[in-house]
Amino acid sequence: MRLLAIESSCDETSAAIIEDSSVRSVVISSQIKIHAEYGGVVPELATREHLANLQPVVREALVQAGFAASELNAICATQGPGLPPALMIGWKAAQSMAFALKVPMIGVNHVEAHLYSPWFQGDPPRAYWEGFQPNISLVISGGHTLLAQVNHPLDHAIIGSTQDDAAGECFDKCAKLLRLGYPGGPIMDRLATQGNPEAYTFARPMLNQDNHDFSFSGLKTSVRYFLEKHPELVEDDVALPDLCASIQAAIVEVLVKKTIRVARRQRLGCITLSGGVACNTGLRKAFQQACEKHELNLQVAPLNLCTDNAAMVGLLGERYLQKAIPTNNWQADIRPSWRLTEPA
Ligand code: KG4
Ligand code: ZN
Repeated sequence: MRLLAIESSCDETSAAIIEDSSVRSVVISSQIKIHAEYGGVVPELATREHLANLQPVVREALVQAGFAASELNAICATQGPGLPPALMIGWKAAQSMAFALKVPMIGVNHVEAHLYSPWFQGDPPRAYWEGFQPNISLVISGGHTLLAQVNHPLDHAIIGSTQDDAAGECFDKCAKLLRLGYPGGPIMDRLATQGNPEAYTFARPMLNQDNHDFSFSGLKTSVRYFLEKHPELVEDDVALPDLCASIQAAIVEVLVKKTIRVARRQRLGCITLSGGVACNTGLRKAFQQACEKHELNLQVAPLNLCTDNAAMVGLLGERYLQKAIPTNNWQADIRPSWRLTEPA
């Protein structure tokens, strides 16, 4: 089984070739520099970039894998959730190829692809479904923050989610208040390694509430009020790393404690992490320590599969095919608001 996967839900144009559960090639064209000037993703610009980059990215993925398009057995693409015009570019290209090649067309949920990416390991990555353990899965990205209980591959239930901002959005918005550039998450991460996480105290929203939900907009607001009172700190080279470390510590503590709590309560011995925020050094370290303490297995998506990429889309798409889950026909539309609780 050889398939092409396409991802274009936000600001990366990506294509991957998957063969027998292994990634043969993955190409990612990032638009970060284009959107940095505006401090966030501009849908119109993202769409133009996808349009310009998709064909070269798909061609490069085929060249790197050493296959011709005619050798593909299936095509899959992110069908949702995401920015509608951005999704449309990848989806329509995938549909056209599937139609021309007369091969099955699979629509993959982007968040579900993140959710299972901790089971895609190695260099090149391959899917280790045989090593799967029932788990509590934390998906933390720029657009989503959720906790799921995963019983088997493709059998999961959402047990908690953010009530407002996603964790990555909180990193990015706080970084913007600190005038750090976009996306702020990785910049904050780097500065935080040089700072003191106890220098300032910020709210830990919903930490003590007996549920599995999160809220990050209050933390962002408390950072804003604090900086309105102390505007000089943004220019202060000593205070800046401390501020980054303190904000990061607040986000990380809530994520770690609530995830560990539910894993213990559900008596599940494994926690998985995925999504762009799972790249965060402080978060990885805090989860490692907490999981060791509570004797839980920690399975984290590889760094290069945490942020958006087509490899995770293809490896999950292949699973759909293996399980004979009905694949979308060539006329199906994008699903910009596709929730994980809705069927494929
Ligand atoms: O998964 P992703 O590429 O896109 C979405 O599906 O949203 O995640 C992007 C998010 C951004 O908010 C970015 O700031 C955050 O992941 N991120 C990080 C780090 N690397 C990426 N946040 C904190 N620390 C990092 N090292
Ligand atoms: Zn994503």
